Amino acid sequence: MLIKTNHSGFVHPVSSEITSAEVYQSRRELLRLMATGAAGAALATWAGRDALAQGAVTRPGKLASLNATPSALSGGMALDKLTSYQDATSYNNFYEFGTDKADPAQNAHTLVTSPWTVEIEGLVKKPGKWALEDLLKLSAQEERIYRMRCVEGWSMVLPWVGYSLAELIKRVEPLGSAKYVEFVTLADKKTMPYVGSRVLDWPYVEGLRMDEALNPLTLLTFGMYGEVLPKQNGAPVRLVTPWKYGFKSAKSIVKIRFTETQPGTAWNKAARNEYGFFSNVNPAVDHPRWSQASERRIGEDGLFAKKRKTLMFNGYEAQVAQMYAGMDLKKFY
Ligand code: MTE
Repeated sequence: MLIKTNHSGFVHPVSSEITSAEVYQSRRELLRLMATGAAGAALATWAGRDALAQGAVTRPGKLASLNATPSALSGGMALDKLTSYQDATSYNNFYEFGTDKADPAQNAHTLVTSPWTVEIEGLVKKPGKWALEDLLKLSAQEERIYRMRCVEGWSMVLPWVGYSLAELIKRVEPLGSAKYVEFVTLADKKTMPYVGSRVLDWPYVEGLRMDEALNPLTLLTFGMYGEVLPKQNGAPVRLVTPWKYGFKSAKSIVKIRFTETQPGTAWNKAARNEYGFFSNVNPAVDHPRWSQASERRIGEDGLFAKKRKTLMFNGYEAQVAQMYAGMDLKKFY
């Protein structure tokens, strides 16, 4: 399925469409086979695909400086079962490595994550380059279990490791004029095969309003499942903003820039009417082409699994709703 973007009528595929078409096709195929009595064979193929995926993941292991303690910020609500490590690391969006969900796990091994620096620039008193090792030591790390809801209609529950981005922000002392924070991610044609493709504007950039960036839930993330982030999940450092759709959580960050004006963001540039700046999870605001009222939890996606109801702000209403008091969330989607 294709959509038109603002770029002079250039046509590109949108991930959600690829996914739903895929799922739709395989379900259709299964129904067709059921009708012809060949469903057994089809189910065997599904199981085989799973088995194939089981072998694909090499775990990066622990990092000495990654020393997380459980965080109070993952509590406060009934927690759902964790998504399996296997699913979390083999069903990804990381367009620098391909548009298919399986591509990042296959292709991201070329990403070079050491040495790594994150540059702080723009409206701050203390700009400069931070080596990853120093960033890791800036604050005590916590393990936070967060729901992740993707704009495409699926969700996961993941144990991330990191600390609140606010810790870093306080350290670099933003000026009073800094109203937004922009996250610029790596765009290296040599190691990222899809950078240069016309699917998105590179580098992949994201942004938050200053109060969102300072919200304690916003996690500067270095690991998951107690280990270093796998490359396909945005090693060595990414963002996680659990009350927003997953695409706000920029992976493999190289620059954090403080600005007065709202930064452009990758998906907003690609399809302005579909992906807004705020992108808060909101079951009452449909995507122009599909409803956001429910979601499919990865790992519960058997043929007859029921969809779950999507929660306002992805279940984090108590912690974040006050930041949007009085705002028309249909307009500021
Ligand atoms: N960051 C970069 N640099 N490039 C991307 O393509 N995809 C986003 C986000 N961060 C993306 C990115 C999208 S669409 C989602 S849903 C999440 O990463 C997926 O994170 P996960 O693969 O760890 O679940």
